[in-house]
Order: sequence, then structure tokens, then C-alpha cells
Amino acid sequence: MADSTLASPHAADDEETRRDFLLIATSTVAAVGTAFAAWPFIDSLNPARDTLAVAITGVDLSPIAVGQAITVIWQGKPVFIRHRTAAEITAARDVNVDQLPDPQPDSARVEKPEWLVVVGVCTHLGCIPLGQRPTDAKGDYGGWFCPCHGSHYDSSGRIRKGPAPANLAVPPYRFLDDNRIEIG
Ligand code: FES
Repeated sequence: MADSTLASPHAADDEETRRDFLLIATSTVAAVGTAFAAWPFIDSLNPARDTLAVAITGVDLSPIAVGQAITVIWQGKPVFIRHRTAAEITAARDVNVDQLPDPQPDSARVEKPEWLVVVGVCTHLGCIPLGQRPTDAKGDYGGWFCPCHGSHYDSSGRIRKGPAPANLAVPPYRFLDDNRIEIG
């Protein structure tokens, strides 16, 4: 015969369990909902899939036309490689370096003027700036724009406006020949 004195506590336990489950299920749905809501924003900060290559250190530059850029992954970070136009090179050089937030001449940031290679991570809080795709905003100085808090980088990857404290970093790299570089 069932012990009726135990029925009630079990029912209470079941009720508790059901409530816990509902609470957890609701929390999970809320968290998933937040993730979905945040995704378009996060995705907009990521490099374009069509410009994203696999993790590599050797890069063949020959397919990159003047004015184009690609993104490669090096040590888990995006590296922007831009084949600069003559106008971009001139703009990068035609700057009063002393007035820059992080003074650095363009010549100290490139191995060859037509190729700019920088780590594509904003030096403010680490977002990935826009500017790799032709349709991207490139900021007020024709380089990259970080929409997280409004940092503008020029065509040498130097910070020109906004809260970022430093220029986009130049990774160690070297030319293996006219058309190939090795990063790292
Ligand atoms: S992370 Fe780029 S401006 Fe804040």
C-alpha cells in the first residue's frame, strides 16, 4: 500500500523540478534569443567570407589587383593585405607625422609602398574594422573604419580619429620574391 505521507513531498519535489526546468528552459531561450539578435551585429564586424582565407603564413600576392584587399588569418588574427593605389600611397605619405596620435611615417610601415600588411584588429577594444570589401565604409581617411566606437584609420593603417590609441600593428613579414610574402 502506498504511503500517503510520502506522496505530498514527492509531489512538491516534482513541482519544484518542473519549475526549475521551466526556469532553465526560459533562460536558455532568452540566451539563444540574445545570441540571434546579436549575430547580425557581430557578423558585420567579421571579415567577409569571400575575402577570408585559411590560416596561412605564405601569401601569393599576384591575384590581388591594384585597389583590392584580402584578409588572411595569421596566429588566429585577421591580417589585412591591401594592394594600394598610387593615390593611397600619396595620401599615406602626405601627412604631417608629428600631428598623428601615434606618429609613424608610412615608410616605416611598409616593405614596398604598394603593399600594406597590417593586423586587422582595432587597437581600441579589438573589433575588426571595416574597409576590406569595396562596399565597406573606409572612414574619413580612406583606410579602415571601426564601427564599434568610431575609430578611423588611414591608408597606412594609422589611427587618425576616434578612441583607438595606436596604429594597426604591422606583423613581421618578408618578401620571398616580387609576388610572395611570408608572415611571421
Ligand atoms: S574597438 Fe574599434 S573603436 Fe572601439
